[in-house]
Amino acid sequence: MPVSLSNPSSNSTLLSTESQQASRLGVAIIGLGGAVATTAVAGVALLRAGAMSTTGLPLATLPAALTDQLVGYENLVFGGWDLCPDDLAAAARQHRVLEPQQLAAAEAELSALRPWPAVGNVRFCRNVTGQHLLTVSSHAAAVEAIRADLQRFRQEQNTERLVVLNLASTEAMPDLSLPLFATLEAFEAAVQADDERIPPAMLYAYAAILEDVPYVNFTPSCAADAPALLRLAEVRGVPVAGKDGKTGQTFMKTVLAPALHARNLHIDGWFSTNILGNRDGLALDNAESLASKITTKGSVLDQIVGYKVDNHVVHIHYYKPRGDNKEAWDNIDIEGFLGQKMQIKVNFLCRDSILAAPLALELARLADLAKRRGEGGVAQALGVFFKSPMVPDPSIIPIHSFEQQQAVLLNWLAAGVSAPQPQPAVEAAKGVLAPALASFSPDASAV
Ligand SMILES: NC(=O)c1ccc[n+]([C@@H]2O[C@H](COP(=O)([O-])OP(=O)(O)OC[C@H]3O[C@@H](n4cnc5c(N)ncnc54)[C@H](O)[C@@H]3O)[C@@H](O)[C@H]2O)c1
Repeated sequence: MPVSLSNPSSNSTLLSTESQQASRLGVAIIGLGGAVATTAVAGVALLRAGAMSTTGLPLATLPAALTDQLVGYENLVFGGWDLCPDDLAAAARQHRVLEPQQLAAAEAELSALRPWPAVGNVRFCRNVTGQHLLTVSSHAAAVEAIRADLQRFRQEQNTERLVVLNLASTEAMPDLSLPLFATLEAFEAAVQADDERIPPAMLYAYAAILEDVPYVNFTPSCAADAPALLRLAEVRGVPVAGKDGKTGQTFMKTVLAPALHARNLHIDGWFSTNILGNRDGLALDNAESLASKITTKGSVLDQIVGYKVDNHVVHIHYYKPRGDNKEAWDNIDIEGFLGQKMQIKVNFLCRDSILAAPLALELARLADLAKRRGEGGVAQALGVFFKSPMVPDPSIIPIHSFEQQQAVLLNWLAAGVSAPQPQPAVEAAKGVLAPALASFSPDASAV
């Protein structure tokens, strides 16, 4: 399988603002039948029908001058793979996220979508299995089949612009320090040799990058973060982003911790626990998949406060009665003036997919913009959406503070708007959303 390392972004078509918004973006979802994916697809169908507001979509209230560069929500079109063959209406009925009237309103669009056969491997995901599998006999054939799916999707939707979004069940973590993940040559040889240490998520990511399609990893699984794939994405000019959507408990943690730090309240310990009963919870009921999630959830505090937080404990429990209604508890032990001890309790009664689906939609639009800007490799500006933001090099410590991450995103959006038109938009964003934008001027290319 010869791989071209040329950067194809030089061929990308630059469109006018109206065309960016109006032309379609194909979103190929890994895990199309899942709770987050069906909620996202239904949400767009309901938006298109004028049956819901944009509440919950983080970019919907930004000044238009910043977001005009992005494809409109209503112009997102969907396809993708799942281990389960059910159409999306049947899948959504099972997940019980949508209200009955919402399901009814989106039913026609949802039932018209059936997942493509998937690449699965029970070694990497023991608790979620299915028979809707690609009939291929090797890794190399799987990659070719995924690429063919993307080419067909492009043609069917009559659009050049695609994004691959990983919303599949969490896989066990491979050891990324192994030589087979280190260089492109080693990785390709391992693909050809059908090396059993390559997880499905990596095969999808590899195929997407070879098709010059941006790849977004909303899951804790290891995919484009293999050094070999990161390098391939950089040289081909393909944006990659991840990983593990920051939706509930970790979102709250990265809002609260900077405030405690700003008041010099020392964090003695942070105990986090969760219960959830959806299929994501079932996947995490397996110790190896759970380890991937705990790793992404556990990494955020030390960078924010600048010291090692002892006693940062994270637990996740599968508890079926809750379904998608995840509940998260945090107990924070802090020390203040004169060494006095205090406690904070946070109890977040979430709707897992209701928080996650809009972030996934925004990520698809942003990854498409990164591609059109010719940005290959890790799209660091999208770090605000992730528990464990990817970095181009392991020596770089990612920013975790929510407010700082949001400022980075807004700066990145503003940098793509030509002066002097964006000035009012940037001023508005400064006041409302991003104090760190105070020093921004429209001709600065800050990220
Ligand atoms: N708040 C949130 O919901 C949230 C937050 C952060 C991350 N995530 C991650 O997003 C992912 C999706 O969550 P969900 O609640 O929709 O889970 P889900 O179990 O409802 O959906 C996952 C889907 O992926 C499919 N799948 C599994 N392996 C596959 C493969 N190899 N190829 C194609 N499809 C495959 C499953 O059949 C299932 O339909 C999970 O990894 C989860 O950890 C969710």
